[in-house]
Amino acid sequence: MFIKHATIERNTILLGVLTLLTVAIGGLVEIVPLFTIQTTIERVEGMRPYSPLELAGRNIYIREGCYVCHSQQIRPLRDEVERYGHYSLAAESMYDHPFQWGSKRTGPDLARVGAKYSNEWHVAHMIDPRAVVPQSIMPSYPFLAEKSLGQRDIAEHLKALRVVGVPYTDEMVAKARDDLAAQADPEADTEAFLARYPKAMVGDFDGNPKRLTEMDALIAYLQVLGRMVEFDRTQPGGLRQ
Ligand code: HEC
Repeated sequence: MFIKHATIERNTILLGVLTLLTVAIGGLVEIVPLFTIQTTIERVEGMRPYSPLELAGRNIYIREGCYVCHSQQIRPLRDEVERYGHYSLAAESMYDHPFQWGSKRTGPDLARVGAKYSNEWHVAHMIDPRAVVPQSIMPSYPFLAEKSLGQRDIAEHLKALRVVGVPYTDEMVAKARDDLAAQADPEADTEAFLARYPKAMVGDFDGNPKRLTEMDALIAYLQVLGRMVEFDRTQPGGLRQ
């Protein structure tokens, strides 16, 4: 037995191949069941793809590197649940490509920041965090309120996400630019929009209803975070029966 083992140890290629084989078997045992178990991602009520405006805001969130300081993943530990709310479910990031779980919390977790503050609070906070939280070390982002939101390619973003499995319909893609404008326009007829994206927050976000800015998009995104899942219709633990 030990003599045979010595042969393996002296032969690097054989050792490499056998190591790879062992690791591969271990990997298969761990990973394969995840593809077959129905409950890898719990079935929950309320998850929908991001609206075009929320998606544009998410792209700004990624562009500005907000994830460097903010996580979007509440762990199932008592202190986190008491501070931030129900722990994050896998289903809540199933339409996130790439997901924004993050690994660093210089600032608080944002997974459930939606509807925690008013739009006005967010505008003031993004323009100058110190204006609302005196001890804040978060950078200021005043330019977002000045920059018009680029919207020409929004339908392409929806299409790209569809390729990786986000269930955007042809109608959603066709109406992407209209929906983008309608969500932030206080005078728009939003009935059809809300049928496509239930529970989306509508109205002016940045305090300037005449212009569609990057601030509108970013706040629309922040305001939907953690608000999609209907916990009263979801069993504890995230599993619905
Ligand atoms: C250098 C680290 C840093 C970066 C980058 C950063 N933040 Fe923050 N953020 C913080 C800190 C620290 C706080 C807590 C103090 C405060 O509220 O300002 C905070 C607080 C917040 C809050 C309030 C959360 C709550 O529950 O009270 C929001 C919303 C927020 N940040 C959004 C953003 C967005 C959006 C971006 C990107 C445009 C961003 N942050 C970038 C550090 C950061």
